Amino acid sequence: MIIVLIGYMASGKSSIGTKLAKKLDYNFVDLDDLIEEKENLTVSEVFKTKGEVYFRKQEAFYLKEQIENNTNFILSVGGGTPCYGTNMEYIINAENVTSIYLKGSVSTLSEKLIKKKSKRPLIAHIETEEAMAEFVGKHLFERIHFYNKAQVKVIVDEKTKEEIANEIVFTLF
Ligand code: S3P
Repeated sequence: MIIVLIGYMASGKSSIGTKLAKKLDYNFVDLDDLIEEKENLTVSEVFKTKGEVYFRKQEAFYLKEQIENNTNFILSVGGGTPCYGTNMEYIINAENVTSIYLKGSVSTLSEKLIKKKSKRPLIAHIETEEAMAEFVGKHLFERIHFYNKAQVKVIVDEKTKEEIANEIVFTLF
C-alpha cells in the first residue's frame, strides 16, 4: 500500500509520516525534502531563484515518479501539492494509494505556523498571529475542496502525533 499524507502547512504530515513509517516498517518520503535534494536548493531558494511555477512542475513530476516506482511506502506531500494541475486526481486514481487528509483548524495551523514560517516562502512575510490566522483562513478555504477529496480524513487538533499515527493504523488495518 502507498499512503499519501496531504493537508495544509503545519498539519504534521512529515512528523506523522515518519512515525507511521516506523510503526508499519514502511519507507518514508517527504516530497519537499526530495525536491530539495534533487535541486540542491531549499524550497525557499527554489521559489526565489526559479519561481513558484517551476517548483509546481517539479512537485508534480516527483509526485508521479514516486508513486509509479515504489510500493509500500508513505509519502508526505507539500500543502499545495493536491491543489495544482492533475495532482489530486492522480493521487485518488492511482492503484494501491490511500490518501489521508490531516485536517487542522485555522487556529491550530496558524498558531504553529507563526513559529515555523521562515522556511515557508508563502507565509514567511506574515508578521502577527492575527494576520497569519486571516491568511490561513482564506487560503484553506481555497484549498479545502482539494483536501476533502482524500479517502480518509483525520482531525489533528488537540491530539499528539502518536495518537494520530495510531488512529491512522487503526483506520487502515
Ligand atoms: C507549500 C507548502 C510547503 C512547500 C512549499 C509550498 C504550499 O510544504 O511545499 O513551501 O503551497 O502550501 P509543507 O506543507 O510541508 O509546509
